[in-house]
Amino acid sequence: MSIKNVVLVGASGCLGVEVFKRLAAASDLNLKVLRRNGSTSTFPGNVQVVDVDFGSVESLAAALAGQDAVVSTISSEHIAAQKNLVEAALSAGVKRFIPSDFGSNLANEATQRLPVFLPKIDIRNRLIEIAKTTDMTYTFVYNGAFLDWGIDQSFLINRAGDKTQVVDGGDIPFSVTDLASVADGVYGVLTHPEETKNRAVYVEDAKVTQNQLLGLAKQAAPSKSWDVEHVALDDLTSAADKRLAQGLLDFQTFGPYLYRAIFGKENGGNFDKNDNALLGVKGKTEEEVAEVVKHHVK
Ligand SMILES: NC(=O)c1ccc[n+]([C@@H]2O[C@H](COP(=O)([O-])OP(=O)(O)OC[C@H]3O[C@@H](n4cnc5c(N)ncnc54)[C@H](OP(=O)(O)O)[C@@H]3O)[C@@H](O)[C@H]2O)c1
Repeated sequence: MSIKNVVLVGASGCLGVEVFKRLAAASDLNLKVLRRNGSTSTFPGNVQVVDVDFGSVESLAAALAGQDAVVSTISSEHIAAQKNLVEAALSAGVKRFIPSDFGSNLANEATQRLPVFLPKIDIRNRLIEIAKTTDMTYTFVYNGAFLDWGIDQSFLINRAGDKTQVVDGGDIPFSVTDLASVADGVYGVLTHPEETKNRAVYVEDAKVTQNQLLGLAKQAAPSKSWDVEHVALDDLTSAADKRLAQGLLDFQTFGPYLYRAIFGKENGGNFDKNDNALLGVKGKTEEEVAEVVKHHVK
C-alpha cells in the first residue's frame, strides 16, 4: 500500500495548523483540505480547499473520491462529526483513516472507560469493525499531553505563575509531545502505511513531571510566584462524577478525566514504548523541553 493523496479535516485548528504545515511541505504527498460549509478558515499556499456539508455522507464521499488517506484533527467538542466522515471514506475507497485522537492512550482499557473519551471510543470501535471486513485501514496516534499547548492553555502548569493544581504530589511522570512533533508523527504514519496498519502508534517528545515543569518555569520567569495548590486525583474525579450525574457537560467536568488519563497509575499516560524511530520523530532533550517551557511562560 502506498499513500499519495491525503485529505486533512480540521486543518485550521490548533493541531491542524501544524499538521497542515508538515503535510503541505511534503513533496511526496498531495494535500487537500476539507472545510466545513460556512467556515471562515483560510490556508496559505496553493493547497486545494473544498467546502463540504459534514451532515451529508454523499457530499463528503464526493470530496474524498480518489483520496488514499484521511487525517482528521477535528476539535474535541465535535468528534462525533467524524461519524459521517468515516462512512464517506469507506464508500469512497479511502485506504487509511487517522481519526482525531492525538492524546491519551486509548488502547488502555481504564482510559477507554473515562467519560470524556466516549465519542472518540465510538469512532475507534467503528474503524476497528470496518477494518475487519473491508480494505479501509486505520492508525490511531497517541502522543500524550501536548507540551506547548498544555502550558499555553495553563493545563499542565498555570503559565500565569500561580495556583498550578499539582496532582498527587507532582512527581508522576507522563508522556508529552509538542504540536510540531505530533505533525511529524502523522507524516511518519502516512509514509509508513504497512508498518502502521490497523494499530496505535505512540509518539513522545519526552517524559516530564509537573514539578519538573514548574522548576523550569521558575528558572525562565523567576519574578512570578509559581505558587501551587495540591490536589488529589481521586477528589478531582469524584467531583467530576457528581457534575456528570447532574448533566453538567463542560470543561470543569471533563478536565479531571483528562488528568486521570495523564496521571492515573492505571491509565497508561507514561508510555512504556514509542514509535518515534519508525515515524521519524526526534524527541526532545531536557534542554529542548526547557526551551519550550521558557517560550510559553515568559
Ligand atoms: N493531547 C493533548 O493535550 C490535546 C490537547 C488539545 C486537543 N487535543 C486533541 O487534538 C485534536 C484536535 O484538537 P484541536 O484543539 O486542535 O481542535 P480545534 O482547534 O478546537 O478545532 C479543529 C478544527 O475542527 C474543525 N471543526 C470544528 N467544529 C467542527 C464541526 N462541527 N464539524 C467539522 N469540523 C469542525 C474546524 O475546522 P474548519 O473550520 O477548518 O472546518 C477547527 O479548526 C482533538 O482530537 C483533541 O482532543 C489533544
